[in-house]
Formats: sequence, structure tokens, C-alpha cells
Amino acid sequence: MPGEVRKFDVIVLGAGATGLMCASVAGQRGRRVLLLEHNALPGRKILISGGGRCNFTNIRCTPANFISENPHFAKSALALYQPQHFLELVERYGICWHEKTLGQLFCDHSARQIVDMLLAECERGHVDIRMNARGVAVEGDSGGFRVSCSAGEFASGALVVATGGLSIPKMGATGLAYDVARQFGLKVISPRPALVPLLLSGTERNWTKLAGVSADVIAQANRGPTFREKLLVTHRGLSGPAVLQVSSYWRPGEVIQVDFAPDMNGRSSLLGSMLEHGARRDEVAFKQALREVLPQRLAAQLAEVGAPEGWSNAALEAAEGQVRRWEFRPSGTEGFEKAEVTAGGVDTAGLNSKTMEARAVPGLYFAGEGVDVTGHLGGFNFQWAWASAVAAARSF
Ligand code: FDA
Repeated sequence: MPGEVRKFDVIVLGAGATGLMCASVAGQRGRRVLLLEHNALPGRKILISGGGRCNFTNIRCTPANFISENPHFAKSALALYQPQHFLELVERYGICWHEKTLGQLFCDHSARQIVDMLLAECERGHVDIRMNARGVAVEGDSGGFRVSCSAGEFASGALVVATGGLSIPKMGATGLAYDVARQFGLKVISPRPALVPLLLSGTERNWTKLAGVSADVIAQANRGPTFREKLLVTHRGLSGPAVLQVSSYWRPGEVIQVDFAPDMNGRSSLLGSMLEHGARRDEVAFKQALREVLPQRLAAQLAEVGAPEGWSNAALEAAEGQVRRWEFRPSGTEGFEKAEVTAGGVDTAGLNSKTMEARAVPGLYFAGEGVDVTGHLGGFNFQWAWASAVAAARSF
């Protein structure tokens, strides 16, 4: 009927990982739930995640794997709903999985199984799912919330904004979560691309001739922890898991540090053979020493741009130090088009960490990537999606 406003207990905006999880749990708790999504299909990012196999959680998940202005905020939700809880759900659906590396759990077959599982869970909770819901606009007053969009007019006592961040606009990412937050007076920490390749320019641009070369490194950005993973040189700069990890901490103008010889320690190290008494000390010996531990093309590049300023012990030690703490000054990132996640988002200072409810707006909840909680690479972002969704859903 035109003009009819359909009433629900809960309206969830966004049928991604967070929205599907939240709607299903709330529905199974007996709430009448509406899930609105502007794409034609739910869970598009889940489908492409983990190279199509979805790295759905990480069994080594701790609060230290998350970045936020308030590093304590995520603790309650992460404790409430842990990786083994999601794993139990996955196993209940007979989805085969494996641990790839560093606690990262992937589907053996397809990410589609995770989406199907979440949709089946929504069905169990009698969730009303409306796809192609365009032009979502929200109003709120003391009586609850009113949502209008191309799918109709709806009202509810609780509203969960689970529309994610800005990464990958072509998959449907929008800033709706930030707009709604601001509309209700909440602060938003400037969203920035994270888990994103970094660009090199100026003299550092010559590294891109190594495009395709990868190496095991330890990488670090100014305010972040160290990450021992692979670095990959691209046509535009640097990528690979180690660089994606540090990109979440990197800020424009800053350097990142790379240890190209992470297995080497002490004097019996990279240039140890050259430091021995009577050993050959020249460019050929230098290149040779690098080649023994590094990929050939990387060794050649470092021999060229990191050659010692002489052949004394001090000069050799300085050259080795440089290879162990190589500084790149990226000129930027590949942006939201290539960022796996968005850092920043709805300021956690305005949210209750146990329920994700806005402190100043009863009934309004924010969960998932739209909130200023960003996981490291390796299944942590989905774990945050599940955990924050469940925290909200169990509080209605
Ligand atoms: P998400 O963005 O998934 O969902 C938001 C939903 O809201 C979308 O369906 C969107 O269309 C909808 N929406 C947005 N604006 C709207 C509007 N205005 N109106 C209506 N609906 C709207 N993480 C991980 O842990 N393991 C992994 O393997 C990967 N792999 C990976 C690969 C790639 C290529 C990307 C881009 C990302 C990952 N991630 C990941 C990150 C992970 O996908 C991400 O953290 C979660 O999907 C976040 O879930 P949300 O539901 O919060 O947002």
C-alpha cells in the first residue's frame, strides 16, 4: 500500500559480513528484523575475500591485532564472540576449512559457503531481507527510527548501521555510516585507506623496475608493530602482506622501514664474509654477499642504491645497517579503490563497547568496518565484523 510504514523491532543497514551476522542473531532471538542492502546481492566482499576462499577468522586474534584511537574499545566484543564461536558455526554447516599460516583460517572450497551459511542463519531468524534498497535516508526521534528508501518506508525501535567503510567503491561502498553518525551528532575519525599498496615516486621510483620481485622482510611504520611477511614490488610501488600491514599505520610524509635480511644476526651476518681478515672488499664481493641471502634482482638493486661509501669495516657495517633498516618514503597509497579496509570511522568514544550502541542516541548502533576499529591482515577484520555484530544483536 502506498505510504504504508512497515514496523520492525530492528532495522539493519547493509547486508555485508556485519549486517548478515547481526540480523541473523537478532532474528533468532525473536526480534522482527529488516535487513536493507543497496546492492543486488548480499555479502559481495565476503565472496571476493581471501582470494575467493574467505579468511573468515584468525585463531590467534587478540586486541593487539586492531588499530583504533581507543585500543581498549574492541576488547569486550572480541571477548564475547571469539574465533572458536565462529568456527563452531562454520563446522555446524559442514564447511571444510584449513589454517593457512599465522592462525589464518580459510574455507577449503569457496567463500560462497560463508555467504550461504549467513543467509541460512538469517532465514532461521525469519529476517526480512530487501536487496536493491537505494537512497537510504534515516530519521530518528524519541519514538524510534524511520528509514525510507526505494524499497519503502520502515520504522523500528533499533537501528544498526552496518554499511562498512569506503574501501572498494565499485563493490558498493559508501560513507552512509559516517553520514548517519554525523547526523546524530557522533564524531567520525577521518577515514583513510588501510591494508593498501603504497606508491613510490621520485628517485625511489626506480625500485619499480623490480616489479614482481618478492622477499621475506620485517617491515614497520612509525607508530606500528613489526610485521614479518612478504614484500612485493609492484609497477607503482610496494605491496605484499608486510607492506599492506604497515600501510594501516603509515601516514603521509612518513617513512616505512624494511629489514631485507630478517634472518641475519650479529657479525656472522649479511656482509660477514667481507669483514673477515683478508677477504675481498669491492663491488663484486658486496653484490655476491647480498646475493647469498636475497633474490638476485633485489640484491642487484640494493648493491646499486645501497653501496657502501668505502670498504672499511665501519663503511661495511653502515651499509649492512642500511639494508637492515631500509627507509622508503612512500608518496601515497593506491587509495580506497585498492584498500582492503578503511581505517578510522565512527569514533568509539561515542559508543558503548559492550553493545555498540551510541551513548547519546538510545537504539542507534554502529558495527563492523564503519567503526574506528581496523584489524590487521589475516582474518581479523571479519572477526571484528562477527564480534561487533553479535555484541549489538545480543543487546536488543
Ligand atoms: P561490508 O563493506 O562488507 O558491508 C557493507 C554492506 O553495506 C555492503 O553490502 C554494502 O553494499 C552495503 N552498503 C553500503 N552503503 C550502503 C547504502 N548507502 N545503502 C545500503 N547499503 C549500503 N577481511 C578478512 O578478515 N579476511 C579476508 O580474507 C578479507 N579479504 C578481503 C579482500 C578484499 C578484496 C577486500 C576488499 C576486503 C577483505 N577483507 C577481509 C575485509 C572485509 O571484507 C571487511 O572488513 C568486511 O567485509 C567488513 O564487513 P562490513 O559488513 O562491516 O562491511
